[in-house]
Amino acid sequence: MPSFTDADQRGIARRGWTGQNRSPYTDGVGETATVSLTRAELDAATRLVHRTLPSTPAYRWPLLAAELGVEVWVKHENHLPVGAFKVRGGLVYVDRLLHRRPSVRGLISATTGNHGQSLAFAGRAAGLPVHIVVPLGNSPDKNAAMRALGAEVIEHGHDYQVAREHAASLAADDPRLEIVPSFHPDLVLGVATYARELFDTVAQLDTVYVPIGMGSGCCGLIAVRDLLGVPTEIVGVVSERADATARSFAAGEVVVTDSADTFIDGVATRSPDPEAIRRIVAGAARIVTISEDEAAQAMRLHFRTTHNAPEPAGSLALAGLLKEANRAQHKRVALIQTGGNIDSTTFATVLEGRTPTPPSPLIRS
Ligand SMILES: Cc1ncc(COP(=O)(O)O)c(C=O)c1O
Repeated sequence: MPSFTDADQRGIARRGWTGQNRSPYTDGVGETATVSLTRAELDAATRLVHRTLPSTPAYRWPLLAAELGVEVWVKHENHLPVGAFKVRGGLVYVDRLLHRRPSVRGLISATTGNHGQSLAFAGRAAGLPVHIVVPLGNSPDKNAAMRALGAEVIEHGHDYQVAREHAASLAADDPRLEIVPSFHPDLVLGVATYARELFDTVAQLDTVYVPIGMGSGCCGLIAVRDLLGVPTEIVGVVSERADATARSFAAGEVVVTDSADTFIDGVATRSPDPEAIRRIVAGAARIVTISEDEAAQAMRLHFRTTHNAPEPAGSLALAGLLKEANRAQHKRVALIQTGGNIDSTTFATVLEGRTPTPPSPLIRS
């Protein structure tokens, strides 16, 4: 991973983008986010992302197909340099930021993991300092990965909410910092590039299962599906212990829950974004909820049949398909493996046949 990043840094330096807050992309993705995606925006975002990141593979794993009795494709976002799909959004967000706010001098955000790695990666490529506030007790592996990408990781507060307030107060102290949210149209546009790769690779998909945290992945899939005019169902998957998005989908408006007490940290959301909910209500077929045990079971199956390590949210799509196995018979299905950043202790627990307990209140937004 570091070698890819370093090579990329060298590439950017060769193109003359060495921290002067100037995009190297003469055909960048523009300055203004739009709600519905245009072909031109998606093309520009794809070019931008592919200058730094490879397309990720979508594989049919024979053992997985045999176990499920379904034609199933796994889109391997875990193969990206930060081990998760989020980095696509970070690259597009930063590119647009440099157009819309050329005076910006750094990024700040609160996160428990992959969003922070994404910003660290994209900020480093743009020469922008990145400050990530995480709650005390956050995954040491994810903290180390963010630091290795050059971010300042500030451990503060007993939960995500306190970390978020601290990030806001640091941003207020230094107005040159951009406070980056965890859902934004530019993040969706970047993430939509994996959806485009998937639809380009696999024709006539009946259903795509995708985990939902704040919804950028799900919204990206919906936007590309609609742009292409194909009938593929997009099915969101959430934790039943962090089911604010499922409740919001049922209600047709944002429903906030009091807790998000799940070990599936990438989807531990209790306060969904209104714009994300609007798009998901309009474009998703349904939302499936998964128990902690079902999530752990899916992780074991995922690893046994593909030998790709999944982080808990990374095999949530498979958990959704397992729950709908009957419905999926004779269909062509894709699963998004959104990430592979799992701590070895958590993974060991799962592989021993047990279900991890949430380490701390990993509540997002
Ligand atoms: C591995 C992984 N999967 C899924 C999600 C949820 O993604 P989104 O917030 O785009 O719904 C996240 C969010 O951080 C994640 O890290």
